[in-house]
Amino acid sequence: MDNLLVRAARGERTERPPVWLMRQAGRHIPEYREIRSEYTFLEAIKTPDVATEITLLPWEYYEPDGLVMFSDILTVLEPLGFTYRIESGVGPVIENPVTGPDDVDRTHDPVAESIDYVGKLLTQLTERVGDDAAIIGFAGGPFTLASYAVAGEPSRTNMPLRKLRANHPDAFRTLLQAFTDVVREYLEYQIAHGADVVQLFDTYAGTLTPTDYEEFILPLHKQILADLDVPTIVFVRRMNGRLEQLRASGADVIGLDWTVEMDAARETLGDIPVQGNLDPSYLFGDPSFVREQTKQVIDDAGPSGHILNLGHGVNRDTPVESVRAFVETAKSYDREL
Ligand code: CP3
Repeated sequence: MDNLLVRAARGERTERPPVWLMRQAGRHIPEYREIRSEYTFLEAIKTPDVATEITLLPWEYYEPDGLVMFSDILTVLEPLGFTYRIESGVGPVIENPVTGPDDVDRTHDPVAESIDYVGKLLTQLTERVGDDAAIIGFAGGPFTLASYAVAGEPSRTNMPLRKLRANHPDAFRTLLQAFTDVVREYLEYQIAHGADVVQLFDTYAGTLTPTDYEEFILPLHKQILADLDVPTIVFVRRMNGRLEQLRASGADVIGLDWTVEMDAARETLGDIPVQGNLDPSYLFGDPSFVREQTKQVIDDAGPSGHILNLGHGVNRDTPVESVRAFVETAKSYDREL
């Protein structure tokens, strides 16, 4: 029988909601910080044994229903010819960002060669967890990836990329297409190596106007997500008020950030499965508050096609006890079927 998370992603009514957390394998876990004192972030994600060990840390703590592979959305920069590092206190830094509108027409090396460490990671994870948890693969979306490739560093407003759209729409389109092609190949590769579910993180695409989103982003999300062999989840922040644009991506599951009212989202979206959406800051409340608010999200989402998650990644300083209360609330929830 399929894993609970896969069943919910297909829209089934489940006895309780499956649960996992975005960024669950990161810095809020003490053992992660220990491992990171021995390896840089890139060494950790490129060494399958280390990445496997980190992916499994949340399993040892909480036994969530899904294990998200320990990696990063930026892995696909390398097959496109960019080099990057993660700088402490800054975030991702691209050493050779896009230099201008003439520097956008890029082909990529085969991901099976340049990102072979992710295939090895997924194979090892599948061997280790079997059917006990769904293995979740992921990729960044074209806008979010291009945002780093153009700005060269984190950019809160994504202004450098949005300026490219304003001044050189054809170059903007060409660059996004290059990312779309590599991401599609990458997701197929992850599925071939054992991912049970894949999530597309186009986290920043909601900074575009709705009209631009429709014109430039939606067709690319459709290209990436069409006819993949496992359930797909799409996640974009700041889409409240235009959830139809997420549904139109063709994803099987719509990720909701915490600015969306769960019950209203259900009314807007109809039957399509959803994932989310507890405010990550609520995990800084005491465990009884966490349980109460988590239960509210579960009740509002209803019995079918809901994957419990946060509305965005877990914050690095989040107490382990709160994450445990969050996961336990889902696991002890019991609906009569
Ligand atoms: O969810 C998970 O546990 C799986 C792993 C995962 C990471 N990054 C691990 C990571 C996933 C799914 C991502 C996605 C990601 N990475 C996104 C989109 C997702 C989102 O949050 O909406 C983006 C924009 C990135 C780019 C990136 N990589 C950022 C912004 C950072 C953090 C930089 C910082 O200093 O805080 C990274 C590095 C990174 N990726 C870390 C982790 C655990 C931190 C590395 C460390 O330990 O210092």
